Amino acid sequence: MRKLFTSLFLLALLAVSCSERHSVIEDFEAGNLDNWVVEGNAFVFCPKSVADNPGIAGAKGNFFGASDLGDADASATFFGKMTSKSFVISQDYIGFLIGGTGEGFASRFVAMELLVDGKPVRTARPTGQDPRSMVWNSWDVRELKGSSANIRIRVDSLPARMRNPLSRYILVDQILQSRKKMGTFNDVLTIPVTAQKDYLMIPSSNSGTASSLSILADGQNILGTAQNIVLAKDVRDYDIPVDISAYRGKTLQVVLTSIDDNDITAKGLSQSDTRIAQYEEPYRPVYHFSPDFGWTNDPNGMVFFDGEYHLAYQANPYGTRHSNMHWGNAVSTDLVHWEDLPFIVAPDALGAIFSGSAVVDEDNTAGFGANAVIGMYTSAGQTQRQSIAYSTDRGRTFTKYEGNPVLDEADKQPNFRDPKLLRYGDKWVVCVAAGDVIAFYESVDLKNWRKLSEFGRGIGSHAAVWECPDLLRFEVGGKEKWVLIVNINPGGPNGGSVGQYFIGSFDGTTFRADPLPYPLWIDEGMDDYAGVTFSGTGDRHIFMGWMSNWLYSGSVPTVRFRNAMTLPRDLSLKHNGRHLFLASSPSPEVYAARAASRILPCEFKDGRLTIPELLPDNDGAYEIDFTVTPGKSPLFLRLYNAKGEEMLYTFDFQALTLNLDRSRSGIVDFHRDFAKKDILTHLVRRPSYKVQLFVDRHSAELFVNDGDLAFTNCMFPTEVLNSMEFAGPDAGISDLTVFTIK
Ligand code: FRU
Repeated sequence: MRKLFTSLFLLALLAVSCSERHSVIEDFEAGNLDNWVVEGNAFVFCPKSVADNPGIAGAKGNFFGASDLGDADASATFFGKMTSKSFVISQDYIGFLIGGTGEGFASRFVAMELLVDGKPVRTARPTGQDPRSMVWNSWDVRELKGSSANIRIRVDSLPARMRNPLSRYILVDQILQSRKKMGTFNDVLTIPVTAQKDYLMIPSSNSGTASSLSILADGQNILGTAQNIVLAKDVRDYDIPVDISAYRGKTLQVVLTSIDDNDITAKGLSQSDTRIAQYEEPYRPVYHFSPDFGWTNDPNGMVFFDGEYHLAYQANPYGTRHSNMHWGNAVSTDLVHWEDLPFIVAPDALGAIFSGSAVVDEDNTAGFGANAVIGMYTSAGQTQRQSIAYSTDRGRTFTKYEGNPVLDEADKQPNFRDPKLLRYGDKWVVCVAAGDVIAFYESVDLKNWRKLSEFGRGIGSHAAVWECPDLLRFEVGGKEKWVLIVNINPGGPNGGSVGQYFIGSFDGTTFRADPLPYPLWIDEGMDDYAGVTFSGTGDRHIFMGWMSNWLYSGSVPTVRFRNAMTLPRDLSLKHNGRHLFLASSPSPEVYAARAASRILPCEFKDGRLTIPELLPDNDGAYEIDFTVTPGKSPLFLRLYNAKGEEMLYTFDFQALTLNLDRSRSGIVDFHRDFAKKDILTHLVRRPSYKVQLFVDRHSAELFVNDGDLAFTNCMFPTEVLNSMEFAGPDAGISDLTVFTIK
């Protein structure tokens, strides 16, 4: 009997303590905000009734907290906050239901915060799953127990630079103190990991929600700053490799935000001694540079030094989208085969690491040592400023200069980036894209800069801000000529990103353009952008571009990497009968990579010349060369496969145009701007046309007459294009050869 009483008593106690497991901070059931201080206009109609808002799921009781959900919420002047009365943190967790503006950019503008001493110590944002429904979430507040705190719910105003208003709202209910974690969603999840191998592998995907990653060793983030990643929720496309070799034996804290306990990323951290588990995939280039893993855009820091070409490319080492910009690092001795090394410059308090260039400081003008490789890049934070970093170990590691930034004109120009260095006499000159002109500066030590001049007003294409300049000296017929390259996005003649150039003079201070029919384009194909040249190559100007287009580069159907560089091209000035132009021809190093060749027949039958099989074992990396003797009618060249996928080129020797239709080239539906039928470029009139078409898995670069034309376009066929057909009544084809390239 006594036993029964004791059990009943214990049960009763349990029931009491269970009911006391939660204490309510706010459940909005009073139907008013008497316990809150409200500012701004975003919470004028808060709380909202469940009955009046049938589209909102997950609320408990009759009312929930929310900012205005109507159309007004998109306007720039819509913002506000509500701050609760103070309460003492008495439990291990604060749990709440939260929802609202979906994942991604908009969710940055709404938040619920826990304030201690008026400062946010925890922040929660909508999870990004279903914007119209609330889910449980909680903060671990064990270390804050006993503190007096407030809850603040915010909708932020939009920054003035945002062109389009953005719909943003937040839903909140049932803010409770609790002994237990509520739900499985974590604003911040910390997973301890003891480093045992060289790489921590973090499951990620191309389709999950956004999170941020920090890895703490002794409280310091070994990644420098928190990095944006995409979670593997229930699909894992790849693992992000993070080098932890320096921390063997130590326990690291892996901190991930906005993550569910059930996400693959949360459950699937592993370690490996191999950085890249799988390099090959269908669109992985064979003889073009592509990053082992992750995203790339512009080529940066291109310099030839001590027998090696260095390519410090714009890189996201933590994902396949443009984010977390670092300088990646690749080297090559032949411009064709690249070794991808660990990245060299990571974001810091000054911002992300945007594009720039590198030089060899032979005379130690900067004081970092004779022959230091010095890179200058844009620190892209709240403003854009130029910084430098140097390497004294053949470009393997870089140290940032402690006096960064070295060039700051942020008060004059929000778009101020992509410094390209060159040696002029005994000084350094740098060209920087400043709005839609190029600004020139000089320096003797690469640290102190003086403005020289600006170029560009009223000339060339100004369809958008100017980016990625380069200034090159040529000799033509014993005379000096200078070329200024300026990239521009959007504004390309075929849409999106493109490089334009000017020919003229440079006297160490000012660039003056010759009167030519500008805009002149380097490559009218869709996929050659941000191209600049290597320094340290003397009179030779070797150019490489980013082989993609900002229109769709973030959606291309590759898996573990996104985007590649073009082939290296030697630049020269040629004449087209009317004026000089900038010619790009494949760098001779490319020919050295030819592995085998096959000479093909050139006889037309009934106006057609069909090659059913270009190569017996075609792995998608090959070159087709031929010479055309033009007739009066257009010549069609179709590169195709058995599935009917094709790249269709039309040479019109009367109109002097070359058109590409890639609307049936394979996977084209990943972006509405990809499947174009009318990618148009221009031929220089010549008696015959030597055509070279370099195909490498997802790209086709066409050159005519050693630089008369460069035409670069991506494609994503689902099977190698291993058949070819010419059609045309009167053109002649000769010297038809196909090469494999390794
Ligand atoms: C050009 C560009 C540069 C910038 C970089 C950022 O593609 O927009 O102007 O520095 O990309 O990744």
